[in-house]
Amino acid sequence: MKKILVVYYTQSGQLKTIVDKILSPLSQNNTYTIDYFKIEPIDDFPFPWTNDTFYDCMPESVEGITIPVKAFDKQGDYDLIILAYQVWFLSLSIPFWSMLQDKKLKALLNHNNVITILGIRNMWVNAQKRLLNYFKANKVNHVGNLVFADPNSNIISVITVLKFLTTGKKKPYKNLPPYGITKQKLETLTKFGELMELSLSTNNWSGFQEGVVKNKGVSLKFSIKTTEMAAGRIFKLWAAFIRKKGGPGNPDRKVRLKIYEYYLLFLIFFISPISSSIFSLAGIVFYPLTKKGMNRILLMQRK
Ligand SMILES: Cc1cc2nc3c(=O)[nH]c(=O)nc-3n(C[C@H](O)[C@H](O)[C@H](O)COP(=O)(O)O)c2cc1C
Repeated sequence: MKKILVVYYTQSGQLKTIVDKILSPLSQNNTYTIDYFKIEPIDDFPFPWTNDTFYDCMPESVEGITIPVKAFDKQGDYDLIILAYQVWFLSLSIPFWSMLQDKKLKALLNHNNVITILGIRNMWVNAQKRLLNYFKANKVNHVGNLVFADPNSNIISVITVLKFLTTGKKKPYKNLPPYGITKQKLETLTKFGELMELSLSTNNWSGFQEGVVKNKGVSLKFSIKTTEMAAGRIFKLWAAFIRKKGGPGNPDRKVRLKIYEYYLLFLIFFISPISSSIFSLAGIVFYPLTKKGMNRILLMQRK
């Protein structure tokens, strides 16, 4: 009998749906038991969000400020631990990062095989960097990384995600596609569970990530990655600037948050279409040079 643990957080349920689909070949096989631990903040974030609460969590997401969460209560030997998370403001979501500070969970992750599964809009590399540092510090054996993003253009997905997050409606506009992973893509996810089963049954994870990448299990575009790396640096400055006026919910930081909101929308709707086109072109022209870096991220190779 092999044991799998899934630690996850989700607001709309999208990420849980993704995880369940991936694991369906294993959950139907009685050689495997799957335990779930749902991350529950003591004081959870709202869903749907109001405009103000949404932007108000930017500084703390970026700076990695934690909140109290329900204590981790699983124990035992697991053959695989799955950490399923989403990105908030180019950083690890606050509930997920807070959960990772739990001593019991840290102890369980130590020297264990871990797969990360992300259900996001389209930007994740900056957030994963923090997680990889955490893995290194806690001696986590990171054996796989699966990333599922909204398949639409950056602008379309910003429009649909903002509306989705503030209304809870997956298809908020008649003339635009629904936000998130498509039904067709969802149906293809079982193959990643089959790949996991192969590695679990043979106790051999070498080649697992290659299989994931070959089957389009990691969404990564050069232009998006380059845009988010630039934005990630700027977000840090904004986070520090806003936090000078106080912590979450402090009315003194409202003006700065509003300026950030307008700045972000300007960046997305006016600057990023231009920069993305330039980055896309650069990605093609300098493909031999960029290929190595992109493959390193896809295949989780350390520098
Ligand atoms: C506060 C907040 C900030 C977000 N920022 C990002 C981001 O920077 N990059 C990204 O790809 N997705 C971002 N998203 C979208 C989430 O990663 C995710 O797709 C969405 O919240 C649905 O996840 P769920 O499973 O929790 O419902 C953000 C969502 C929220 C709520």
